[in-house]
Amino acid sequence: MKIVKVGMIGFGTIGAGVAKILVDNGEIIRKRLGARLELVKVADLDITTDRGIELATGVLTTSADEVINHPDIDVLIELIGGYNPARKFLLQAIEQGKHIVTANKALLAKHGDEIFSAVTEKGLSIGFEASIGGAIPIIRSVREAFVANRIQSIEGIVNGTANYILSKMSDEKCDFNTALKEAQEKGFAEADPTFDIEGMDSAHKIAVLTRLAYGTLVPFDDIIVSGISGITSEDIECAREFGYRIKLLAISKYDGQAIDIRVHPAMIPVAHPMANVNGVLNAIRVCDDMMDENILIGHGAGALPTGSAVVGDVVEIARNILTGVGERLPAGSFQENEVKKIPLKDISEIESEYFLRFSVLDKPGVLSKISGILGKHSISIESMIQRGRGKGGEGVPLVMMCHKSSENNIQSALNEIEELNAVCEKPNLIRVER
Ligand code: HSE
Repeated sequence: MKIVKVGMIGFGTIGAGVAKILVDNGEIIRKRLGARLELVKVADLDITTDRGIELATGVLTTSADEVINHPDIDVLIELIGGYNPARKFLLQAIEQGKHIVTANKALLAKHGDEIFSAVTEKGLSIGFEASIGGAIPIIRSVREAFVANRIQSIEGIVNGTANYILSKMSDEKCDFNTALKEAQEKGFAEADPTFDIEGMDSAHKIAVLTRLAYGTLVPFDDIIVSGISGITSEDIECAREFGYRIKLLAISKYDGQAIDIRVHPAMIPVAHPMANVNGVLNAIRVCDDMMDENILIGHGAGALPTGSAVVGDVVEIARNILTGVGERLPAGSFQENEVKKIPLKDISEIESEYFLRFSVLDKPGVLSKISGILGKHSISIESMIQRGRGKGGEGVPLVMMCHKSSENNIQSALNEIEELNAVCEKPNLIRVER
C-alpha cells in the first residue's frame, strides 16, 4: 500500500478536526486515493491538552522544526494562523521541498505573493481551500471550475462568527455579548474575536478571493473595513420592518477599470438568496460573463467542516505526488507573469442605497432640517420610521431608507446633519446591497 506522509503544525480546533478526519475517514480516503495518508508528526506548543484524538507515540512534538525538517514528510499542513511565525515556517518548509496546505487567510492576504512565488519556484503545490468559507469549495471553483469565465464580482458572508452573532440577535433577540460568547465556545471565532467582529477576517478572505478572481495584487491595508460592533437591535428591527436583513458582507466588484473592494454590514432584501443564510453558514456569490450568479452556501467555520477542506487539499496534492504529474494549477489562479496591479476604487466613488439612523430630539422642525440637508445633497428619501417620544432632551431614533445616491453626497450630508443641535449622536449608515 502506498503511503503519503503528512506533517502538521498547529493542533488547535481545526488541527484536531483534521486528525479526527484522517483517523475516522482514513478508509474512505484510501479507497478514493489508492493510498494511505499518514500523519507522522504534529507540532503544537501545548501537547498536554486532551483533544479526544489518539495519536501514536512520538507523533506529538513541541518543535515545529521537527515537522519542517522531517525527511519523510511530503505535505505540511499549517494551522497556527497569523502572520508570524507561520510565514517563516511555511517559507522554510517550501525550501525543504514540502507541499503546503494552509488555512491561513491572514498570511495569504498579506504575504500571498511571496508564498505563491516560493511555491511556484520550487514546483510545489499549495492548497488553501480551508482559508475561506470552511467547507465551501470556493477556491477550487475560482481556480478550476470558473477558469474560462471573466469574473465580475465576488461577494458574500464569509465570517461564521459575525453571521452567527447577527442571526442570533435577529432571531432570538439575544444581545451581542451572549451571541459572541456562544460562538467562541463552539470554536468558530478566531483567537482574537475582534478580527471576526470588526471585519478583518472577512477582509483577509476577500483580499485572497480578489487576487484569484482578477489576477491582481491587492494592497491589503487599502481595503475599506468596518465591522458589526456598531449594529444595534434597533437597526435589526428597523431593517426587518423595511424588508431587509443585516449581514456582514465582503464585497469585491471589478468593472474592467478598477476594483471596488470593501467589508461592512449591509442590508440585503429578505428575498435575496443570502438573506436567510444564518448561523455559522457562509455564502459566496460569484457573478461572471458566463452566468448571472452562482451562489455557494455551506459551513464556514468549525473543526470538521474546515478540517474536511484541509484534508481535501491534502488528497489533491497526494494525487499529484502519486501520479508524478507535478502541480498543474498556478497557485494564485493566474500565471505569475500575468498578475497585474489593478487600481482600487475609492469608497467616495461608489453609489448605493442607504439606511440612515439618527438619534434626534423629538421637537418641531427637526425632520424638515434633516430632509432639507439630504435634499440639498441630491439624496431622496424612500421611507422612514420614527419611534416614541423622548423624555427631557433624550434622543429618539429616526431611521430612513434613501434611494441610490453617491457615497460622497451621503458623507457630506451626514457631516452637516451631525452638526445640528437636535442631533444627539453621530449618525449611522448601512449600505444596501442587492
Ligand atoms: N473565525 C472564522 C469565522 C473561522 O468565524 O468564519 C473561519 O475562517
